[in-house]
Amino acid sequence: MSRGLLICFEGIDGSGKSTQARRFADWARARGREVVRTREPTDGPWGKKIREARFTARMSAQDELAAFIADRKEHVATLITPAIQRGAVVVIDRYYYSTAAYQGARGLDPKELLRVNREFAPKPDVVVLVDVEPKVALERISARGEGTDLFETLEALTRVRATFLELAKEPHFVRVDGALAPDAVFEAVLAAISARVQV
Ligand code: TYD
Repeated sequence: MSRGLLICFEGIDGSGKSTQARRFADWARARGREVVRTREPTDGPWGKKIREARFTARMSAQDELAAFIADRKEHVATLITPAIQRGAVVVIDRYYYSTAAYQGARGLDPKELLRVNREFAPKPDVVVLVDVEPKVALERISARGEGTDLFETLEALTRVRATFLELAKEPHFVRVDGALAPDAVFEAVLAAISARVQV
């Protein structure tokens, strides 16, 4: 049986990470692997509460952190860990690096946020940072016509990106240039993942 893998995609809103996560998941599935594609915030009760608050009254930084942690604990216990244990490739769109970057941008200490998460959440085999300038990301978001939410100001995304780039110095991280065309980004994603793990 193949070894279970946890492959994580991170990036600011509008970076194109979800497209890349989906493409990678399809690729791994086509190779015959069981793939579990998932995301945070999840579609469970905590994730729903978080999504609702984004467009209405934003929670305090502490309440928001507690909600993301509760969401992740449930996600890890019910989906991520069992899937890795049975040998699946788990492809996750956002994970605890988003907590470090986004809740860090609200004034919490990114290092402490990582520490708290690592006490219960398995470490990914590879983290792909799809990196774009906040200006480009915001242009894409407005082109989607979805409207921006309370997480998506230029100033906030600039701080979030800075933390992601700092985190990307860790060896299991790879940064790909999300300003390229989607096919070129995917080529870089595949090359980076294949250089680190056997899928
Ligand atoms: P996003 O992937 O943009 O969800 P959607 O597909 O619904 O747009 O994630 C929602 C937001 O949540 C995003 O702005 C980043 C933020 N976030 C945090 O602040 N902390 C976290 O731990 C996670 C996972 C996400």
